[in-house]
This record gives sequence, structure tokens and C-alpha cells, in this order.
Amino acid sequence: MAHFSSFVVLLFCGVTSAADVFAHFMVTQQIGIDGFALNWAPPDCSGAGPNNQDWNVQRIDDAFTVAAAQGFKLMYSFDMSYTPAFCTYPWNTTFMATMISRYASNPAAYIWNGEVLVSSYAGEGYGNNFFAELKSVMTKQGVNISLAPALTTYSGAAQNQDPNKVATGMLQNYTSIDGYLNWQTWPLDTYTNLTAGVDVDFQVVLNVAGRAGPYIMGISPWQFKDFNDGYYNSWVEYSDVLFPNRWDQAIRTVQPDIVEIITWNDFGESHYIRDLPPLTGPASLDLGVTGNYIYGQDHSAWRIMAQYYITWYKTGVPPKASLLCNFVTEDRVVFWYRIHPKQIPCASGTNNIGVVRNAAYPADAVFAWALVSKNSTISMTVGSNEDWTFQASTCGPVLNMVPFPAGIDNAYPVVAIERNGKTLQTSNGSVAITQACSYEDYNPVVGVAGPPIQGISKMGNGSGMKGKPEKPKYEKSVC
Ligand SMILES: *[C@@H]1O[C@H](CO)[C@@H](O)[C@H](O)[C@H]1NC(C)=O
Ligand SMILES: *[C@@H]1O[C@H](CO)[C@@H](O)[C@H](O)[C@H]1NC(C)=O
Ligand SMILES: *[C@@H]1O[C@H](CO)[C@@H](O)[C@H](O)[C@H]1NC(C)=O
Ligand SMILES: *[C@@H]1O[C@H](CO)[C@@H](O)[C@H](O)[C@H]1NC(C)=O
Ligand SMILES: *[C@@H]1O[C@H](CO)[C@@H](O)[C@H](O)[C@H]1NC(C)=O
Ligand SMILES: *[C@@H]1O[C@H](CO)[C@@H](O)[C@H](O)[C@H]1NC(C)=O
Ligand SMILES: *[C@@H]1O[C@H](CO)[C@@H](O)[C@H](O)[C@H]1NC(C)=O
Repeated sequence: MAHFSSFVVLLFCGVTSAADVFAHFMVTQQIGIDGFALNWAPPDCSGAGPNNQDWNVQRIDDAFTVAAAQGFKLMYSFDMSYTPAFCTYPWNTTFMATMISRYASNPAAYIWNGEVLVSSYAGEGYGNNFFAELKSVMTKQGVNISLAPALTTYSGAAQNQDPNKVATGMLQNYTSIDGYLNWQTWPLDTYTNLTAGVDVDFQVVLNVAGRAGPYIMGISPWQFKDFNDGYYNSWVEYSDVLFPNRWDQAIRTVQPDIVEIITWNDFGESHYIRDLPPLTGPASLDLGVTGNYIYGQDHSAWRIMAQYYITWYKTGVPPKASLLCNFVTEDRVVFWYRIHPKQIPCASGTNNIGVVRNAAYPADAVFAWALVSKNSTISMTVGSNEDWTFQASTCGPVLNMVPFPAGIDNAYPVVAIERNGKTLQTSNGSVAITQACSYEDYNPVVGVAGPPIQGISKMGNGSGMKGKPEKPKYEKSVC
């Protein structure tokens, strides 16, 4: 079975954990049990009869075994978008209760206020009565649960309507839920930067209603999907600066009980942060048509950013070079870019049968996020836009961008860190920006100038999470 690795949570300086970070892990993409919120579909949904996907349950067994041994925490995220209308054998409370009970006292079970935390993707297709029944079945088994589902229609609606009203209406109908996971962590088909407004309202409304469950804030780096079967399965959401913005909102504005990174390994929607799967061997994945925009497009350097913000989120102190506990000892620029200008008609992909929805939104640019141990100059070259510079300082990360010049073709962006007249780090993007694109592709390539993210990081083991945590104190200004 796959090893258990995670980027999550480097607890430097021995600071006590006061907030937790999960990564959303798709069990059906069963390689490398790396994450924490285990997303899985009803094992017999397909209609081929019960017990046709026992391996799903076996992977969960493996995950708990390994997680317990390594001090990781896991929670279920039942994928309830597989509704009774869709599945011959949908979720049923007997089976769910069995699976929850099976690990309720495992050291890897994530406990919230003395109860096993259970989350979901969707659930509206099952309704409040189903949730109520699940809780009552659990209580009869002597295992109480705290339910924090991602009822996605509400977080989606909240972006276009009064979020307070939407959240209030949701809680009126869903009397059985304790907390909430905001899955809608991309702007929904609009050319705007996502704000924390929806998060704040859901959080407030939960509190006012006296619900004891956690507010789980989703944070995602990107959203692009193309199943190459037409307009309805092909879209990009405006994600250019989403990842740093969202982290900033979580830390400064929302201070959620839990952050859930969406996702560890969902390749099809381009929000993976795990390493790319190998092309062959037992750890390889059949990515089908989506492989066209995944292979060669590494996102692992986004974990450098996650590591920085997680430390800040958990300690309440922005890691920076000048602090006593010396977090930033290395110079790094994480950079990301798409590999063709957006107006280029590519050889294949949905372009042949329609257009990728929202294809006009992303900027044709190379984005850079610089975190340095001493004040530095960051120099970037993108095609004929040569040696554009900006200043990075020990005050905290600096975000910048260099646009694609008109006519850019076969250009590898170059990013360098300079100080005192010396080039300390330099990195070329691993994929060229080209006019001769073989696939319409809005998934970015992510690189780093400076040391790459270390393979396997340790996380805080969550043992402080037996009740609602104290909120950490946040520094008002970074510099
Ligand atoms: C409940 O779900 C499990 C797993 O899919 C299945 O094996 C079982 O037959 C289902 N029970 C009922 C009553 O549908
Ligand atoms: C988790 O942390 C607690 C408290 O610091 C410690 O007692 C326990 O041994 C740790 N568990 C693991 C698996 O590291
Ligand atoms: C579960 O909840 C019920 C109802 O709130 C309570 O009476 C019971 O003591 C709880 N059981 C456990 C094991 O905490
Ligand atoms: C609550 O449930 C009622 C009855 O099913 C439905 O008509 C209404 O739209 C729901 N309200 C919300 C906010 O979901
Ligand atoms: C989103 O935010 C970035 C950085 O703050 C800004 O440059 C950009 O113009 C914003 N995009 C929109 C659509 O407002
Ligand atoms: C580094 O840059 C910051 C921001 O520009 C500035 O406030 C600080 O004085 C600089 N530090 C040094 C040592 O030059
Ligand atoms: C990086 O790109 C620059 C400019 O295109 C080129 O001169 C250099 O050889 C490249 N370096 C590597 C290691 O590919």
C-alpha cells in the first residue's frame, strides 16, 4: 500500500496547535494515502450489486492503520453527490454508522468536542432526515458524531445572494447539522477575486444558532476541468491569485476552526498539490483524457506556500526572518503560469466542440510569490519581457506578475533571486509557453526558484483538538 505522506503543518518552535488543517483526499484516486478528509463514494453505487467496490473500504482500513501509526488524523467526507436518484445502492445510515464506529476510537479519528467529526461533499439529495437518522443510529451505538457537511448548493447560492439569509435558511432546514464546510472556494463563474464574505456569514450564523460544530473553510489553489466532452464539463474559474488571497483571508479575517485544502489529489479539477503520479508502475494513475493537462504540470511548489501560511494560521504569528524563531531561512520564489496564451486555438481539447467556460478570465501572465531570508531583488524574464524586477523583503511574502508579451512562443520563464549583485537562485519554468499548444489547457505549471519542498513533512498530531480550540492571536501587521 502507498506510503502516508503529507505536506501538512510543520509545527516549528514548539508552539501549541490551536487550529487544524486538513487536505481533502479523494479515496477513489487511491494512490498514496496522504490526506485527511477522506472523500469517498458509496461503494456499491454503480448498480452492479452490493460489494463490488470492497477495495474502497480496504483503502480506508489502510488509511487508518497508517495514519494511527504516524500520528495523522482522518475524517470521513462522504461523497453524497452520489444520490439515491443516481445510485442503485446509495449511502445508507447502517453502513455509514458501521464505518464510523469501526474507527471511532482509533487514535487517528478526528475528534471534535468529544465527538467524531464527519463531513461530506453535498448531501442535499439525502436531506436533513437522513442526517438526523445517522446521528441517532450513532448515538444508539454509543458514538456521537459532529456533522459538518459541505451542502454545496448553499455555498454556491451565497456567492450571488445575501449570504446571511442563505446560511440562515440552510440551518432552518438542516436542524441536524453541527458545523459546515464551505466547498465553494472558487469564484463561481465570475471575474472577481473571491472574498471572505461568505465564510464570515456562515461562521456567524452557525455561532448565533448555537451549533457546536466547526466552521471549516475551504482553500484551493485553482480550478480548471476539461473532460473533452463539451461545454458542460469544461471550465476554468478565476484563480490567478486565489491561493495566497484565500490563506490571507483565513488568517486575518475568518480564523476558521479548521482549514481544508481542496484538494490533495483531485487531478481532474487541477487543484491537486501532491506530487504528480508517475507514468508507470504501481503508483501510476489512469488519468484518461485529463492526463492531457496534468502530466508535466507539477504543483508541488504550492506546498511551500501552504507550509508558510499553515504555520501562520496555527501559531498566529507570520513566519518571517526577523522573528526569534527563525522560520524563513531560505530564499524562494514560487511561480505559476499557464502554458499558452488564452486566445490561441489549440489543436485539440474542448476547443474543437465549444469553448472552455470562462476562458477569458485568467490573465496571460507569470505570477510570482517571493519569500526571502534577506531583502532581495526578484528578476523575471517572460519571453521578450526581459529582466523585470521587483523587491522582496523580510517583511513577508510579496506577490507580483509579469505579463506574457504579445506573440510569446516557445518561451521558458526564468525567475531569479538576486542580492548584493549576486544571483543566488535561478529557475526556468519546466514547460514552455507556446503558440503550438496541443491541448487547450488552463491548468498552470508551478515552479520554484530556491530549494524545493521537502518530500514528507510532519504535522501536529491534533491531540490538542479535544474541544473547540482557543483562537490564536494574530499579528496586525507583518512589517
Ligand atoms: C448499505 O450500503 C452497503 C454498502 O454499499 C451495502 O452493502 C448494503 O447492502 C446497503 N444496505 C441497504 C439496506 O441498502
Ligand atoms: C501526540 O501529541 C501528544 C501530546 O503532545 C503526545 O502525547 C502523543 O504521543 C503524540 N502522538 C503521536 C502519535 O505522535
Ligand atoms: C451522546 O449524546 C447523548 C445525547 O446528547 C448523550 O446522552 C450521551 O451521553 C452521549 N454519549 C457519549 C458516549 O458521549
Ligand atoms: C427548506 O425546505 C423547504 C421544504 O422542502 C423548501 O421549500 C425551501 O426552499 C428550503 N429552504 C432552503 C433555504 O433551503
Ligand atoms: C484580483 O486581485 C489581484 C491582486 O490583488 C489584482 O491584481 C486583480 O486585478 C484582481 N482581479 C480582479 C478581477 O479584480
Ligand atoms: C527590507 O525591506 C523592507 C521593506 O522595503 C524595509 O522596511 C527594511 O528596512 C529593509 N531592511 C533592510 C535591512 O534593508
Ligand atoms: C534557462 O533559460 C535561459 C533563458 O532562456 C537559458 O539561457 C538557460 O540556458 C536556461 N537554463 C536551463 C537550466 O535550462
